[in-house]
Amino acid sequence: MPKVTMTVNGKSVSADVETRTLLVEFIRQHLRLTGTHVGCDTSQCGACVVHAGGRAIKACTTLAVQWDGAEITTIEGLADGDTLHPMQEAFREHHGLQCGFCTPGMIMAAVHMVERHGGVPDEKTIRHELEGNLCRCTGYHNIVKAIAAGAEAMQGGKRVAAE
Ligand code: FES
Ligand code: FES
Repeated sequence: MPKVTMTVNGKSVSADVETRTLLVEFIRQHLRLTGTHVGCDTSQCGACVVHAGGRAIKACTTLAVQWDGAEITTIEGLADGDTLHPMQEAFREHHGLQCGFCTPGMIMAAVHMVERHGGVPDEKTIRHELEGNLCRCTGYHNIVKAIAAGAEAMQGGKRVAAE
């Protein structure tokens, strides 16, 4: 079995894995980082989004061996100790979740969205960019508000007040 070594949430990890091991299996089963969810296994729901090599990717449709040597961030790596990442805080403040199953993937996608846009994306852009993240509970309204607020907070601005 090939050995893979990655930096996950700032820590170097290695393991022998089967070549068919998916990145999401490596993260959940080998590393026990279960905040990354599996909702579909067919690259549709976005529950499994992590940051890998500086991009937000769906970890259910890529192999662990493809990321040998990469830097990976999962939802567990976003907070700074007890201090939530501004996007996590915005989801909490704006009630951007109900059951929470989609939330880790939504937040990881949202952080990367803001990093790519380098500012606060408008509502149309946020909705368009969320095409790959499905939520069965919320109707998206508060998720969109949370992402706008989180984006503003990430720029160092004042957070949009919760309504
Ligand atoms: Fe990866 Fe649904 S589990 S997109
Ligand atoms: Fe339940 Fe999104 S909060 S699926």
